[in-house]
Amino acid sequence: MTELLRLDNISVNIPLGGGFLKPKVWLQAVNDVSLTVLRGETLALVGESGSGKSTLGYVVAGLRRQSEGTVSFHGAPVDGEDGKRPVQVIFQDPFSALDPRMVVGEIVAEPLRLKGVPSEQRLARATEVLGQVGLPPEAARRYPHQFSGGQRQRIAIARALIAEPEMIVADEPLSALDVSIQSQVLNLLDDIKQEHGISYIFISHDLGVVRHLADRVAVLYLGRLMEVASRDDLFVTPSHPYTQALLAAVPRIGKGRRKKEQILKGEIPSPLSPPSGCVFHTRCPRAEDICRRERPALLPAPGRPTQLSACHFKD
Ligand SMILES: Nc1ncnc2c1ncn2[C@@H]1O[C@H](COP(=O)(O)OP(=O)(O)OP(=O)(O)O)[C@@H](O)[C@H]1O
Ligand code: SF4
Ligand SMILES: [Mg+2]
Repeated sequence: MTELLRLDNISVNIPLGGGFLKPKVWLQAVNDVSLTVLRGETLALVGESGSGKSTLGYVVAGLRRQSEGTVSFHGAPVDGEDGKRPVQVIFQDPFSALDPRMVVGEIVAEPLRLKGVPSEQRLARATEVLGQVGLPPEAARRYPHQFSGGQRQRIAIARALIAEPEMIVADEPLSALDVSIQSQVLNLLDDIKQEHGISYIFISHDLGVVRHLADRVAVLYLGRLMEVASRDDLFVTPSHPYTQALLAAVPRIGKGRRKKEQILKGEIPSPLSPPSGCVFHTRCPRAEDICRRERPALLPAPGRPTQLSACHFKD
């Protein structure tokens, strides 16, 4: 498979406060992240709240500018304008993502209107993609409030598809939906991937969903990559203590929890003053002196060249 997206050393520093005689403070939302996504591949971004998943996704989509580093598609760096990026975004909340004053046909066709496609063609194409996401042609004439949460998320997916993106950044697309609806939308995303060969960056808290959908997984903590691995390597032989702790925190039906010391303890430190060395050291059961002093590089785990882990004592 060929490379679609490449991120080189992406950092996002957000200025906070500042003003007359008050220095600005900088929040490191994403710090030195390098990743690739192949064509047709699903890369999941996981990590606790505040780890920088959405920020990184928005940098890919051009909704937020990186402070440092380069975003490239097909090997060519892109800068600023979203227009050049073959990316669409699906957000968590299908209620606020759709303009309540527009009918669904117009909402879905919006990306085509921006490209100057004539209105009749737009409507025909909108009806077609609504069909692809399992909605009837009449849906085009109705307003968002006439649909359920799951149907609204389908509308948002249709709007993303109509632009024929090569990549969709899906930011927690299931978490605002009823559990009964989640698997339907998940299956739809799966079908779209099979049919259109679209790559996903799939942001989720739900490791069960990630295990179902992802080809590879990137684990973020305080804006840094802790581990990047294939789905199977990550779930079967997690290398990084943080990944191990995240997996251990997932209750397994009938099997109870894993070893006690692997369960995550304590609060995530403030991204305004991240810990020295390995940022995970304040919560890591294996931390030693070197962890407080030296930031570990993201390197292959022993004997597993494609499983990268940023730990001085990786498994
Ligand atoms: N516009 C902003 N202003 C100030 N801080 C921000 C802003 N956007 C993000 N942050 C901070 O950057 C860090 C990363 O946030 P981000 O939303 O990317 O995390 P996340 O992994 O998506 O979290 P969640 O799982 O809660 O959605 C957090 O500390 C967050 O508070
Ligand atoms: S580098 Fe040290 S603190 Fe960081 S994860 Fe590895 S053992 Fe834990
Ligand atoms: Mg988020």
